[in-house]
Amino acid sequence: MSVVALVPAAGRGERLGYGMPKALVPVDGVPLLVRAVRGLLDSGCVQHVVIAAPPSDVDVVRDIVKTVTAPSAPAGGAVHVVAGGAERSDSVRLALTHALREMPDATIVLVHDAARAFTPPAVVKAVVDAVAAGHPAVIPVLPLADTVKQVDDGGVVVATPDRASLRIVQTPQGFDAAVLLRAHRSGLHATDDAGLVERLGVPVVTVPGHQDAMKITTKFDLAVAEAILTGTGG
Ligand code: CTP
Ligand code: MG
Repeated sequence: MSVVALVPAAGRGERLGYGMPKALVPVDGVPLLVRAVRGLLDSGCVQHVVIAAPPSDVDVVRDIVKTVTAPSAPAGGAVHVVAGGAERSDSVRLALTHALREMPDATIVLVHDAARAFTPPAVVKAVVDAVAAGHPAVIPVLPLADTVKQVDDGGVVVATPDRASLRIVQTPQGFDAAVLLRAHRSGLHATDDAGLVERLGVPVVTVPGHQDAMKITTKFDLAVAEAILTGTGG
C-alpha cells in the first residue's frame, strides 16, 4: 500500500490579490505550497506528492519544492510537479492521471489544497488511517460556529437548516484510488472531490478537522495564518 497526495496549486490567487499565484505567496519567508507539502510529508504516511502548478510556473515550482528537506523528504518517494488546468477539478484530474501512471502501487489518494498550508500532520494521518481502515472516501470536517440560512434569488430567507447536522469541509480528502479515478471519469460535476464520489453513491465518512486547516483565500486569512505561525492563533 502506498499513499500519494495530489496538491492542486495552479490557482491565480485573485482574491488574495498578492500579484502572484497563491501557492507561491510566502508566510515568514516560506511559500504556502512548501508549507502544505511539508505538512503532508510530516504526517509520516504519505510516500508521494504530485503538485499541479500554474502552467506558466512549473519550473519555478520545481525549484521551490527542492527546499522541502528532511525530516519531510519522503524515503524512497518523490515530489512530482505537473502543469495544472483551468479549473481546480482539471488540476486534480491532471495530477491524478500522472500519479496513477507513475505510481501504480498507490492505493490511497489524498487531495489537498496548497491553500490549506497549515493543516496539522495529525489531520493528514487521521484521514489516511480511516481510508486504510476500509472507508473509500474520508473528509476532515468542523462544526459550524454560525447559523446558516438558505435564501432565494432575492435574498429572502426560505429555510434555516439545522446547524447541528452541518459541517465545514476541509482537506486533505482521502480516497481509495480506484474510487477517485471512477469519480473523475464519470463526467459528473461537484465543488469538491468528495462531492463527486458522493454522486457515485459511495459513502463519504468524516473525521475531525482542525481550525489551522482553514483555506487561505483573502488577506484576512493570510493574517490569521501569520497568527497561527506565531502561536497566537488560539
Ligand atoms: N487550484 C488549482 N487549479 C485551478 C484553480 C485552483 O490547482 N485552476 C487550486 C488552488 O491553487 C488552491 C486550491 O485549488 O490551492 C483552492 O482554490 P482557491 O482557494 O480558489 O485558490 P485560487 O484559485 O488560487 O484563488 P482565487 O479563486 O482567489 O483566484
Ligand atoms: Mg479559485
